[in-house]
Amino acid sequence: MTKANGKMSSGFFLFSPWMLLLLELSTVFSGSEAAHAVKRFTGLYTGPYFDPTTTTNITTQLGTHAYLPCKVKQLGNKSVSWIRKRDAHILTVDRYTFIADDRFQAFLVESTDTWTLQVKYVQARDAGQYECQVSTEPKMSHFITLNVVVPKIEILGESDMFVKMGSTVQLKCVITQSLEEPAYIFWYHDGDRVLKYDKNAIDIRLDREGTDTTVSTLIIFHTSSEDSGNYTCSPSNLDSASVLLHVLNGEHPAAMQRGKNSASPIPGWSHLSIGLGLAACTPPRFAITVALTLAIISEVLAC
Ligand SMILES: *[C@@H]1O[C@H](CO)[C@@H](O)[C@H](O)[C@H]1NC(C)=O
Ligand SMILES: *[C@@H]1O[C@H](CO)[C@@H](O)[C@H](O)[C@H]1NC(C)=O
Ligand SMILES: *[C@@H]1O[C@H](CO)[C@@H](O)[C@H](O)[C@H]1NC(C)=O
Repeated sequence: MTKANGKMSSGFFLFSPWMLLLLELSTVFSGSEAAHAVKRFTGLYTGPYFDPTTTTNITTQLGTHAYLPCKVKQLGNKSVSWIRKRDAHILTVDRYTFIADDRFQAFLVESTDTWTLQVKYVQARDAGQYECQVSTEPKMSHFITLNVVVPKIEILGESDMFVKMGSTVQLKCVITQSLEEPAYIFWYHDGDRVLKYDKNAIDIRLDREGTDTTVSTLIIFHTSSEDSGNYTCSPSNLDSASVLLHVLNGEHPAAMQRGKNSASPIPGWSHLSIGLGLAACTPPRFAITVALTLAIISEVLAC
């Protein structure tokens, strides 16, 4: 009992303080009175009962496997079923799966009297309550809530980044709500893996912050026009994120046009260079507006 009590306060929320006190007493006074107190609480020493240390709340990352434990003592020849609360679907009875979805499977670990429901490749819609039911008369139930967290990935800043040729660029790829740290994070430049052959030209840093955040930083020193293009941050276990980098040489808007070639053609592109000085040090959308305005003005003046 002592061992159970230690875990109880953190794992089991159904205990009211007096119940805990009762159990505390039972560890102090061994003997018939204490045994009686415990017996009255579980009331089931003659048959199956749930181990009160069984967790009631499981949190899993999308796409990983979830394990929902159900600890039943003195099970005897009774059956253990897992039922999904959402639609009352019986998922498993003992070792048999009763749903046409082979992601669900139950197995017994005899050494701990635990019937565990395994949910493979957890999906967002798997979130919710699950009932572990023992075939006593009347039936006994233990409920577990499955929480599914979905990691988020983004490259900080605008999706189009404008920098002056020769400057240093940092692309920060931030992954949050990821309980499982990605095994690796690769960067791609227009589809080619970015490797740091020369630490003075390119550096890649990886940081784990807190329990659920991973940051990969790609640093490009002394940018040149060849550094323009699509940069993709691609973790081992998640979707990727991309940005378009535009390295501006202050003369030709070539880099900018290459990045924007899906946009509708705009007359007066050649006048854009007037705006480029501004573009290098202002937010992109504003810079584009300014550049276009200047282009139009100079077009009008030229007439
Ligand atoms: C269950 O765990 C999740 C995530 O850790 C937490 O947000 C939630 O509050 C917990 N729920 C209960 C009832 O403890
Ligand atoms: C379970 O065991 C009890 C006695 O231990 C017996 O009376 C009962 O018939 C058994 N039930 C099943 C379903 O085997
Ligand atoms: C960048 O490349 C990735 C991977 O090839 C692609 O999914 C994404 O759409 C591209 N982004 C842009 C803005 O072109």
